[in-house]
Amino acid sequence: MNRPKELILVIDFGGQYNQLVARRVRECNVYCEIYSYRTPLEKLLAMKPAGFILTGGPASCYEEGAATCAPALFESGVPVLGLCYGAQLMSYVLGGNVERASMREYGKTEVEIDTTSALFAGVSPKTTCWMSHFDYISRLAPGFRATAHTANCPVAAAEDAARGLYAIQFHPEVLHTPEGSKMLYNFVRGICGCSGDWKMDTFVQDSIKALREKIGDGRVLLALSGGVDSSVAAALLSKAVGNQLTCVFVDHGLLRKNEGDEVEAVFGPSGNFKLNFVRVNAQERYYAKLAGVEEPEHKRKIIGEEFIRVFEEEAKKIGAVDFLAQGTIYPDVVESGLGGESAVIKSHHNVGGLPDFVDFKEIVEPLRNLFKDEVRKAGLALGLSRDLVFRQPFPGPGLGVRIVGEVTAEKVRIVQDADAIYREEIAKAAEAWRKNHVSCVEGTIINENGEKECHRNGENENPPWMPDQYFAALTNVRSVGVMGDERTYDYAVCLRAVKTIDFMTAEAAQIPFEVLQTVMSRIINEVRGINRVFYDLTSKPPGTIELE
Ligand code: XMP
Repeated sequence: MNRPKELILVIDFGGQYNQLVARRVRECNVYCEIYSYRTPLEKLLAMKPAGFILTGGPASCYEEGAATCAPALFESGVPVLGLCYGAQLMSYVLGGNVERASMREYGKTEVEIDTTSALFAGVSPKTTCWMSHFDYISRLAPGFRATAHTANCPVAAAEDAARGLYAIQFHPEVLHTPEGSKMLYNFVRGICGCSGDWKMDTFVQDSIKALREKIGDGRVLLALSGGVDSSVAAALLSKAVGNQLTCVFVDHGLLRKNEGDEVEAVFGPSGNFKLNFVRVNAQERYYAKLAGVEEPEHKRKIIGEEFIRVFEEEAKKIGAVDFLAQGTIYPDVVESGLGGESAVIKSHHNVGGLPDFVDFKEIVEPLRNLFKDEVRKAGLALGLSRDLVFRQPFPGPGLGVRIVGEVTAEKVRIVQDADAIYREEIAKAAEAWRKNHVSCVEGTIINENGEKECHRNGENENPPWMPDQYFAALTNVRSVGVMGDERTYDYAVCLRAVKTIDFMTAEAAQIPFEVLQTVMSRIINEVRGINRVFYDLTSKPPGTIELE
């Protein structure tokens, strides 16, 4: 792949924030990649990085077998910033001392810093930082001076500026260190001298060129789910190779309301992209296979296997292709532990197993180096709508895991209608909130027209209660109600809404009661087959986000 000229290497020591460090660097418009600490130094230096950042990690650097790095890293002349474990390791390797403190320093902490350090230029002399450490630097390595301290930590930062070596005990990458981004900016743009050549428009243009070169006049096949990653991959590939690309979109009848038509409107013949779009309407096939099946894992298995069968049939019609395209993104690469070193095939529910039966020569993964927020930016740069680009996560088995018990066409209709009302009302309430809250919480950027725009992680600002994922699910409970003068015996729908950062843990979102009431009354009045609405308060764990 064509790397931007300027590169920062993030060396991963197993810290929980390693991807966040990399994202913050990229927010400074500087490209970076994450590599394991086990990667040989020669290989790292051969990439000609402008700087290294050593991440945090769970170990103690003085213990036998602890993660370490070659001492020559610090002699290479390339600036190095150590964070938390990385800071301790730098001190330890260079002759300082690291010890276990009597108490762990954890949480938001006031730190006093020396603003004459290039790392802290423009930062307030007293600022807040996020600490999370037991070990601490008890004696500085020769040549180093302390540049920050807290009440309990004598060396909250240190440096040997002449050698370009910087250490920070706290975590500048998390939002709990409000001036942390400035520190990382000072390192990559100031100390490492990067000018900031990582821009999404440039990435898109460079990728189009590189894809054209790689694909030549070859044929490409992509399984399009309508989700963010596969949609952005389709848009990028279609700009690069036009109708050498065939996208197969399987409508399994378990999509949200109108979603199949929305995907077709964007990528089909009347959309803005030039490609071969094949929509397979497999609804009836899926409902027939799912009839009478109640057990959640059994349902998932049927949906997954049926997807492969349908795709296989389509692939046979198309014949041999040169490339199979996948929407793999950078977190998939990092989480697989490969750190960008070799090809990964995303074992995503939707595409699992595809390479076994599709006749192709090579895989192309045009989004392999992008984080999710960058994929979204690329999508916008390619002309996809905000609605599509900021779509919520949607499970591969779709509404199949949002209908408790047996799936039928009628239940799909009920849950689709209820879910559409729920999403519509949340969008309305969020929009009303935005009208009354013009101030920005997490930063203001100036757009191309010189106007101020509120952005939070690339999205428009949202109300504090705004869930990260929300949907209606159909319970298997039927209960008695009264509608007009008639007794009803209908289903109960469950409204789920969670706040989550990583989707591994989640809390129920505190949607205002009046919004929930509006949703309830609209669902009961407008959706035939529902006479009761529940709001799910369960956190994860012990619950999962989906009902099945
Ligand atoms: P759970 O329900 O496990 O969900 O708490 C965590 C996140 O993953 C999504 N999810 C899936 N995504 N295939 C997918 O592609 C699946 O089978 C699947 N199951 C859950 C879920 O929507 C949530 O965002």
